[in-house]
Amino acid sequence: MEPNPAAEVMGADKAHLWHPFTPMRQWAAEDQLLIVRGEGNYLYDARGRSYLDGVSSLWVTVHGHNHPVINAAIKDQVDQVAHTTLLGLASPPAALLAKALAGLAPAGLTRVFYSDAGATGVEIALKMAFQFWAQSGRPGKKNFAGLRHAYHGDTLGAVSVGGMDLFHEKFRPLLFEVTRLSAPYCYRCPLGLTYPDCSLACAEQGAKIIRQRADDLAALIIEPMVMGAAGMIAFPDGYLSLIRQACMDADVLFIADCVAVGFGRTGRMFAGEIEGVEPDLMCLGKGLSGGYLPLAATLATDRVFEAFLGEIDQEKTFFHGHTFTGNPVACAAALASLDLFERDQVIDSLPPKIERLAKALSLLRDHPGVGDVRQRGLMVGIELVADQKTKAGFPPGDRIGHRVILAARRRGVILRPLGDVIVLMPPLSITVEELDTLVKVTTEALEEVIG
Ligand SMILES: Cc1ncc(COP(=O)(O)O)c(C=O)c1O
Repeated sequence: MEPNPAAEVMGADKAHLWHPFTPMRQWAAEDQLLIVRGEGNYLYDARGRSYLDGVSSLWVTVHGHNHPVINAAIKDQVDQVAHTTLLGLASPPAALLAKALAGLAPAGLTRVFYSDAGATGVEIALKMAFQFWAQSGRPGKKNFAGLRHAYHGDTLGAVSVGGMDLFHEKFRPLLFEVTRLSAPYCYRCPLGLTYPDCSLACAEQGAKIIRQRADDLAALIIEPMVMGAAGMIAFPDGYLSLIRQACMDADVLFIADCVAVGFGRTGRMFAGEIEGVEPDLMCLGKGLSGGYLPLAATLATDRVFEAFLGEIDQEKTFFHGHTFTGNPVACAAALASLDLFERDQVIDSLPPKIERLAKALSLLRDHPGVGDVRQRGLMVGIELVADQKTKAGFPPGDRIGHRVILAARRRGVILRPLGDVIVLMPPLSITVEELDTLVKVTTEALEEVIG
């Protein structure tokens, strides 16, 4: 087939495609960027212009685009077989990846259940927790707790445990009730306190609720250390372990949604490691396949898994699955990505990058339009405000975040905002020089839009 000229592609896009999380009237009215190629930390448009990928193509790319090792693993697997089902059949990449993940994950997580998106990984964790208690003689433990502002994906279970009003409120009639704990959003503290003088009052409050609800809570779900889509809310030290301890005291399962914070983003392989937190269930996605293919996994402990073992007529089976569960090509990409983590000592390479990023960001803090700069590892949220003193935001109609990322794009950097929070989340393969460019361009874009 002849390569499509850009105009034909954009015609087809604007006539037929419905983009996710996108106001489509505005999309159709504006010029759009057509990305046709990736190489390392850069993306290329149809005219051959390069862009530094400042958000890892929505938080997925780990070792860079078009990586020869992952490419080869995918090609090898396609030459064997592109897809076989895990319903009733075994498959080498799925089995070997499960073993590798169990070896890497926090202690106790020994079982791997695959799916194909972060949201389905979360859905599975919720259903596993619910069925676990039903089959452990405590059917009254059937409710869930989560954090305000949380984001766990867009399927209805994941939306139920999510707490982002803008995305989730419209669907409220379709959702189940969830107990909400205050998020540790220090810049806009829900308790009006200041860290560290607050002595983590929000965590104490959450822990109290969990202990009081020991009889009816099946599980708590939390994004460890950084609430990504909420605007990169970075936890104050100690919050996560306090909440984890309360779950242990109340025997409430602890679900770590590591879809965004997994695979090195926070500087550790899995974010909970920072505070030595070992979950009962852990959800992985995004960077799992190196950011190449849709693959997610829900990891469970032996305790959870064993509640699903029994005779056929006891009906303890987990009746859940997806057509492409454990797709061999996606699993082969993930295995190659894990090999690269080891071969290139990726986690050990991160501290100088994280430090360099922190240094570059420190200059941004005093910028008049910047309310807060939050960083954990290579995850950054820059919260823009109209007034630093009152912390008042810009009118949503001004689309300040959107305008800032367009200004960055004109300077050769691709970003994606969360409202008026500018997110930086580069691939782990980014160099220190590229980190400087990323922050410099972000600063220039801010200056262009908000002076
Ligand atoms: C913490 C978290 N959980 C779940 C999801 C959903 O993942 P997916 O978009 O692959 O369904 C996301 C996506 O951003 C996420 O950040």
